[in-house]
Amino acid sequence: MRRSSPPGQTSVKFDPSGRLTGTVTPPADKSISHRAALFGAMSDEPVSVRNYLRAEDTESTLNAVQALGAGVQDSGDEILIRGVGLHTPAEVTGGRLDVGNSGTLLRLLPGWLAGQPGGEWTLDGDDSIRRRPVDRVAEPLRRMGCSIDTREGGLPPMRVRGTSLTGIDYDMPVASAQVKTCVLIAGLLAAGSTSVSEPSQSRDHTERLLGRARVPFTRDGLTVGVHPVDELELDEITVPGDPSSAAFHAVAACIVPGSRIVIDGMCLNWTRTGFFRIAQRMGAVMLGDLEEPGQGSATEEPIGELDVAAAPLVATEVLPEEVPLAIDELPLVALLGCFAEGDTVVRGAEELRVKETDRIAGVVEGLNGLGASLEATDDGFVVHGGTGIEGGAIDSRGDHRLAMLGAVAGLASRSGVEVLGMDAAAVSYPRFEDDLRRLLEG
Ligand code: S3P
Repeated sequence: MRRSSPPGQTSVKFDPSGRLTGTVTPPADKSISHRAALFGAMSDEPVSVRNYLRAEDTESTLNAVQALGAGVQDSGDEILIRGVGLHTPAEVTGGRLDVGNSGTLLRLLPGWLAGQPGGEWTLDGDDSIRRRPVDRVAEPLRRMGCSIDTREGGLPPMRVRGTSLTGIDYDMPVASAQVKTCVLIAGLLAAGSTSVSEPSQSRDHTERLLGRARVPFTRDGLTVGVHPVDELELDEITVPGDPSSAAFHAVAACIVPGSRIVIDGMCLNWTRTGFFRIAQRMGAVMLGDLEEPGQGSATEEPIGELDVAAAPLVATEVLPEEVPLAIDELPLVALLGCFAEGDTVVRGAEELRVKETDRIAGVVEGLNGLGASLEATDDGFVVHGGTGIEGGAIDSRGDHRLAMLGAVAGLASRSGVEVLGMDAAAVSYPRFEDDLRRLLEG
């Protein structure tokens, strides 16, 4: 790895590497960290969060809950959050909240704010955030009685005027854990019952956390229901390692010949490990106690090891119902596809167009620029496999997952890959390069 520009526009060259060996512990899970900070802030009693993710996105969440009146006491290993309770998010009943680059914070927080009569907040963030749709949460919250303004096209900034909400039964048009969480949190504050139905399963961290916080909720197939509660009863949350971050090392170990690594401390929740099941289907050797689909605990996040080794790969088709369980890892399916025999097809993934960047364009153009052969479709992509990666340069476009994709592609390339904007990785995984280097050094 060779670094050649100032921070802010860091360009790093990833040369073809020798095999990866050793053990890596991924950083704390981003989704669960956001929820831990938010649930801590909504609690009456202090909540101790262990292994909170130290990254730009989750820093934005800590800043936001502090702006809403919560206390955040950071003692290194543990963050103690002194919440303001579900019904009183602030002495400050309004203001501007900066979500930075975090789409999750942008979509979760309005669920809480919407149910605070008399409060008025404006949520805004960086240039990428201003391109991310918020109508998906504004629409159900308006139906619950909240007044919300957005920029034309349903884009941020988003102004939320809190009110007394009424529960609804909401049919989500697209499976989204962010929207589900937002509506369920609003449901805790709304009169009557609230339910959310999704077209296919999305990650279930919120439901597990509601269970831990002793909030009664119902689950019937793909429908989750809540009633209003007075308080959350939480005292401690330990955040497991992030499977979405671990997936970058796993893929490096799959495509750099002779590699064998162990990923430890990883969240094995079945609603987060869809990518690993897809990779296994492609022939990847990934051994571990992944939770079985449909078998999740009501309250706990399972943690464990995954043993990964390089192996020959074959193409696969990723079906629309698999997409929500692998949404953040689909760029890595594309990279595996470059090394697989046959055509890998991803369908039903139009959501990728509205992530931190348009990830269909970013992945297809980015990997084609490195000598691979991909075609974009409206709702996904086709990878003509067997090309491997020649090398060249790829622009992260300010997107953390594209930056790390380029790095891994470089290790398995024939001539090396320069990643422009490598610093974007700090959004979810600030020590990514250090961890990768350790695996390269065995
Ligand atoms: C997230 C849900 C997913 C995912 C995002 C984090 C969450 O988004 O892409 O990175 O923490 O709930 P959607 O729920 O919109 O699919």
